[in-house]
Amino acid sequence: NTLYVLNGPNLNLLGLREPGIYGATTLKDIEEMCKEKAAAMGWSIVFRQSNHEGELIDWIQEAREYARGIIFNPAAYTHTSVAFQDAIRAVSLPVIEVHLSNIHARESFRHHSYVSPAALGVICGLNAKGYVLAIEALVDHLESA
Ligand code: DQA
Repeated sequence: NTLYVLNGPNLNLLGLREPGIYGATTLKDIEEMCKEKAAAMGWSIVFRQSNHEGELIDWIQEAREYARGIIFNPAAYTHTSVAFQDAIRAVSLPVIEVHLSNIHARESFRHHSYVSPAALGVICGLNAKGYVLAIEALVDHLESA
C-alpha cells in the first residue's frame, strides 16, 4: 500500500526560501515526517519534488500503476495549471491538495486553485503538519472504501 507525495516548484528550497512565510522546515524534514506517519499506519510513501510541470504530470500518470492515492503540493502551478486538473481527473486516484501557507490569506492570485475542483480535499495554512494530516485522511479514506 503506497501513496505518492508530490511537490511542485521551489519547494526544494524550503528552509531557505521566504522563511517568514514557509518557516525553517526543509523538504527533507517533511519527507521524514510523511514516511514516519505512513509507516505508523502500515503504508509506504514515494516522496518527490520537481520544478517542471510536465514531470509532475508524468508522475501523476505513473501513480496509477504504483500508488492508491496522491498528496500533492502543486506550489505556484496550483494557480496556473489546467493540465494538473486534467491529469488528476484522468487518473481517477484520490488526491489531497496541501499548501504549507494559508493561500486564502495571501495575495489574491493565490486564492484560486485549478487543482481543488479535482481534489478529494484541501489542507492549507498548517505548515508541514498539513502533509501528516493529509496522509492520515487519505489512508482512512482508502481503508474505508
Ligand atoms: C504553496 C503556496 C503557493 O501559492 C506558492 O506558490 C508555493 C507554495 C504552499 O505550500 O504554501 O510555492 O503551495
